[in-house]
This record gives sequence, structure tokens and C-alpha cells, in this order.
Amino acid sequence: MIFKNLPGHIAIIMDGNGRWAKKRNLDRIYGHAEGIKSLKSVVKGVMYYKIKYLTAYAFSSENWQRPEEEVDYLMDLLEQYIEIELPYLIKNKIRLNFIGNLEKLPEKSKTAVLRAVDKTKNGSELTLTLAISYGSKEEILNAVRKISEDVKKKSIDLNDINSQLFSNYLYTAGIPDPDLIIRTSGEERMSNFMLYQAAYAELYFTKTLWPDFRRKNLIIALKNYEKRSRRFGKT
Ligand code: FPP
Repeated sequence: MIFKNLPGHIAIIMDGNGRWAKKRNLDRIYGHAEGIKSLKSVVKGVMYYKIKYLTAYAFSSENWQRPEEEVDYLMDLLEQYIEIELPYLIKNKIRLNFIGNLEKLPEKSKTAVLRAVDKTKNGSELTLTLAISYGSKEEILNAVRKISEDVKKKSIDLNDINSQLFSNYLYTAGIPDPDLIIRTSGEERMSNFMLYQAAYAELYFTKTLWPDFRRKNLIIALKNYEKRSRRFGKT
């Protein structure tokens, strides 16, 4: 499949793992485990099309309120994902990046995350960002706090504050805004994900549950994106 235009950055809200498991009378955790396979499949697809940025919402700042068992399982899955995938990431020049409040992670998970970031820092083919303990409102408020401190310290001037400078204070500093945001499972909302960065993103919603979303579904989303006419507020 050849595309006339492809997004430079795809961000995905991976939703529906619980429902996928429930439909099969399985515990929710099996949905998350299957969801990892979808992530791997999508990473391969994105690499094939030489798309340079992929961001996946793996754990929101609100997800800490889920039952402890499920939270623990998701943290274990994160560590396993890193451990198992690290050689693949390095071999394929994929830079692993994280956005979110990592301070809240258990020490063991945080160590695994920081180690993986360091080991993959020279990756030049794809930046794979996992949003973990991520909330967009928190991210924006943090940026406002840091900017205010810098104004107070006089390291920046009030007049310097523009959208470029603001972007540099977000967790996503250095990463271009997403061109395409995909949400699976039929829900059609942003759920506190990349609210500032999504200003001009094309939104693609599909009823497919995340564990069923594989490379072929990515291609369908890319075909849909290809047809969009992006005007960025212009005529
Ligand atoms: C949403 O489904 C999914 C999540 C909260 C977790 C997403 C996580 C993965 C795909 C695997 C973990 C990946 C890493 C790298 C840790 P849901 O549980 O809200 O599903 P539901 O809406 O059907 O209940």
C-alpha cells in the first residue's frame, strides 16, 4: 500500500482492553496482555511506513484509582514490555521515550523506564513515546508553574511566552504535535490526552477494541487520514 501523505506523528488512545476480556469471560488483565501484542504490531506497521513518531497512552493519571491488583499488573506489564522488547528496540533504532508523572511509579518500574530511555537514546528511526501516569491538565499546569518560576527568576520575559516556548515546557518538548490521534473501542473523547498538542490533529475513532487493533487496522486508519484535507485554520 502506497500513501500520498502520511502522518509524521500518530498518537493512540488504546482503549477497550477490559471489554475485550469481558467478552471472553476472562479477567481484565488478559485484555491488557493482548493489548501489548497490538502495540507491537502497530510499532512494526509504523516502522514500515517510516513514520517517525508514535505515542501510546498506556496509563493515565486517573488509572491509579483502579483496583490495586490491576495497577500492579499494568506496572509488571510495563517492566516486562521493556525487558522483552529492549533488544528489538535497540536493533531497530527505536528511541523509547516516556511522558507523564514518573515520580508516582513504583521504584522498580521507574528504574526500568529510565534504563530503557538511556539504552535507546541514539534511536533515529522512530521515537516511541509511552504516556504513563500521564494527564494533560497536569502537564499544562506544570508548564505554567515552571514558566512562572522562570519569569520570576527573570530567566525569561513575559513577552517571550508564545506557543513555541510553551511547547518546550510540556512533557512532549522536542516532539512534534500529533497529526493523527486514534482512539479504539468506540469511545469518542480525549480523556485528558495531549489536549494542547492535539490542536490541529485529525481524530480517528474506531469501534475495534484495542486488543483486536493490529497492523491491518492501522492501514485502514492511514487510508482514512490520507483523505482528510488539513487546513490548519486557513482556507
Ligand atoms: C484501556 O483499556 C487500556 C489501558 C488503561 C491500558 C493500556 C495498556 C496496554 C495496551 C498494555 C500496557 C502497555 C504498557 C506498555 C504498560 P480499559 O482497561 O480502559 O478497557 P475498558 O474501557 O474496556 O474497560
